[in-house]
Amino acid sequence: LDNGLALTPPMGWLAWERFRCNIDCKNNPDNCISQKLFTDMADHLAKDGYRDVGYNYINVDDCWMAKKRNKNGRLYADKERFPKGIKYLAEYMHKRGLKLGIYGDFGTKTCGGYPGSEFHLQTDAETFANWKVDSLKLDGCNSNTSDYKKGYPAMGHYLNKTGRPILYSCSWPAYLNPSKVNYTIIAKACNLWRNYGDIQDSWDSILSIVDFYGNNNKVLSAAQGPGHWNDPDQLIVGDFSLSYEQSKSQFALWSIFGAPLYMSNDLRKIPTWAKDILQNREVIAVNQDKLGLMGKRIVYKKNNYEVWMKNLSDVTTAVVLFNRNVQGTPQVLSVDYSMVS
Ligand code: GLA
Repeated sequence: LDNGLALTPPMGWLAWERFRCNIDCKNNPDNCISQKLFTDMADHLAKDGYRDVGYNYINVDDCWMAKKRNKNGRLYADKERFPKGIKYLAEYMHKRGLKLGIYGDFGTKTCGGYPGSEFHLQTDAETFANWKVDSLKLDGCNSNTSDYKKGYPAMGHYLNKTGRPILYSCSWPAYLNPSKVNYTIIAKACNLWRNYGDIQDSWDSILSIVDFYGNNNKVLSAAQGPGHWNDPDQLIVGDFSLSYEQSKSQFALWSIFGAPLYMSNDLRKIPTWAKDILQNREVIAVNQDKLGLMGKRIVYKKNNYEVWMKNLSDVTTAVVLFNRNVQGTPQVLSVDYSMVS
């Protein structure tokens, strides 16, 4: 989407994978979807070095809303969990040099059953802009996928009409049969798009995403560039399942993909080794390269190893040697110089 935003892959934090739809603030005040969760994460982005290496979006996901629209037909945040509302959160972010992302759904209800934007697209775009929100993830649950072609661009149009720059993340292709996706239309309408199932906190989940990205490498590469990005979903580095080496693998691969780097983890509790991976400036620079290319998978030995390469704007080439040996054993990998030059 040519709106001047996301000229390099956006970076930040997104609530979903780690915190899901936990609305039980009574029994679990630190882990529920609430104002405090987002201000806590913002504080850590700002003071623990994340913001300074580029992570600047704090993204709310599902389950922030009240169960119904208000009497004027407007969305609003659950009053107990977000006592000061979304506008306050946006201001909180802006004061700290951060941006706020919000979540909505194109259908009648969000995936978690909260009010959807169908028949309210313009009103909701205006509400988000009034709150000074900086990004919208528009999910695709509870809708007819044949309406997407009109509906997703329509929301983009209404966001644009508000005059506020709002990064637009579409879940559009994730709900379609991959062979039926028209990326030319999607790339014109959206700044980023999920094209595969939800990431879970597991190594198998990472492998399935990496395979999808590798197997559809040509189509996905052609779709991507400054302002329009494939989104393989959140980084789970610092969560429960990945080892140190597996964490480095996810970060290296997301980097060479040129993927949005949205962490979903608990920045209040993250181990130092995970923080160091997420703040590795050289790896981030590969991700943020201004050509915006997606890496190419040039070797694929299922159950053993892969090689990915990406040309960078300074005429160098980044290479990822990815050990995916099913037996879990270290191995020495190399790639012939002629293959990557
Ligand atoms: C879908 C999306 C997830 C998340 C949930 C929220 O599954 O793909 O990323 O937003 O909905 O309910």
